[in-house]
Amino acid sequence: MKAVICTKYGPPEVLQVKEIAKPNPKDREVCIKNMATAVTGSDVLIRTADMPFLLGLMFRLMIGFFKPRNPILGLVFAGEIESTGKDVKGFQKGDRVYGFTGYSFGAYAEFLCISEEESKRGCLASMPVHMSYEEAAAAAYGGVLAPFFLEKGNIQKGEKVLIYGASGALGTTFVQYAKNIGADVTGICSTKNVELVKSLGADRVIDYMKEDFTESGVLYDFILDAVPNGKINRKKLKAQCRKTLSAKGKYISIDDGSPPLKAQYLVQLNELFEKGKFKAVIDKTYTLEQIVEAHKYVDTGHKKGNIVITMEHNK
Ligand SMILES: NC(=O)c1ccc[n+]([C@@H]2O[C@H](COP(=O)([O-])OP(=O)(O)OC[C@H]3O[C@@H](n4cnc5c(N)ncnc54)[C@H](OP(=O)(O)O)[C@@H]3O)[C@@H](O)[C@H]2O)c1
Repeated sequence: MKAVICTKYGPPEVLQVKEIAKPNPKDREVCIKNMATAVTGSDVLIRTADMPFLLGLMFRLMIGFFKPRNPILGLVFAGEIESTGKDVKGFQKGDRVYGFTGYSFGAYAEFLCISEEESKRGCLASMPVHMSYEEAAAAAYGGVLAPFFLEKGNIQKGEKVLIYGASGALGTTFVQYAKNIGADVTGICSTKNVELVKSLGADRVIDYMKEDFTESGVLYDFILDAVPNGKINRKKLKAQCRKTLSAKGKYISIDDGSPPLKAQYLVQLNELFEKGKFKAVIDKTYTLEQIVEAHKYVDTGHKKGNIVITMEHNK
C-alpha cells in the first residue's frame, strides 16, 4: 500500500510517499481501507516538532526523538472496514467508518488498523449514510476536539460567545456547535473569510484586519481562542480577551488541556449532520502524492476549515 512517511522533523519536504506492507488487525482491531484523510494543524505541529525547548523535549520523548516513532503521520480517517480481528464486536466488514487516530497516527496511508475501543490511541464511529468520505475526514478533527472545549465553557442558550479564529478547522466547528446550543455567536477572522463564517450561522463577524474587537463595548460570556500557537501573540490576545469578558465569563484557548478522544462525540456529530445542522468545511482537496503541497498550504496558517487528502482507491 501507499503511505506518507515522515523521515525526520522539518519542512513539508521531509514527507515522502512510499510503498509499504499493508497492516493486519490485532484481535480487537479493525483494518480500514482508508478513502480520505485531512492535513490538520496538529499534523503540522507533529511534522515540525517546533515548540519551546522544554515542551519540545517532552514531545520528542513521547513521540520520538529524531523522527516520529510511527513515521506515518495523519490523525483523521474515513473509509470502509476491510477486515476485523477475531474479538471485534461492534463493527463488521463493509461498515463505513470515520475517526481519529490520536497518538498512534497512521492515517496518511491507504490502509490502517485501529482498536474498536476508544483510548488516547484513537476512536471510531459509523458514518452517516449521506456523508461523503471527504466530508467525514474533514469533520472528524473538529468533531472530536471541539466538544471538549465547548463543554468547558458550559454555554447556555442566549449567552454571548466569541470565537477568535472562526474560519479554521476548529473555529468552523465551534461556530456551528455554539449556534446549535442557541448561543449568540460572534466570529473573528480575516477579510477573505468573513462570508464563510456568516454562512455557518454566526450572528456577527468581526474582521480582525479592520476592527479591534475590544472597542465594541460588548462583554462575552465565553471566549474561545481558536488561533493555533505561534500564529499570534497569545499573551496579548489573552489579556485583550479578559477585558471583554462578562463578570462570570470564561476564556479558553484551544491549547489549554488535552481533549479525550470519544467516539460519542462523532455520534453527536452524526446526529447534527443528519438534521442538516452541521456541514464540513473543505477548502482544498489533494491526493496522497501531493502531500508536500498540502502541508505547505496548511503551513500558511490561513486554511479555510479543512484540507482533505483523497486516496486513489476512492476515485
Ligand atoms: N489542546 C490540544 O490538545 C489541542 C489538540 C489539537 C489541536 N490543538 C490546537 O489546534 C490547532 C489547530 O487548529 P485549527 O486546525 O482550527 O487551525 P486552522 O484551521 O489553521 O485555523 C486557524 C485560525 O486562526 C486564524 N488566524 C491565523 N493567524 C491569525 C492571526 N495572526 N490573527 C488572528 N487570527 C489568525 C485563522 O483565520 P484567518 O485565516 O481568517 O486569519 C483561522 O481562523 C493546533 O495547531 C493546536 O494549536 C490543540
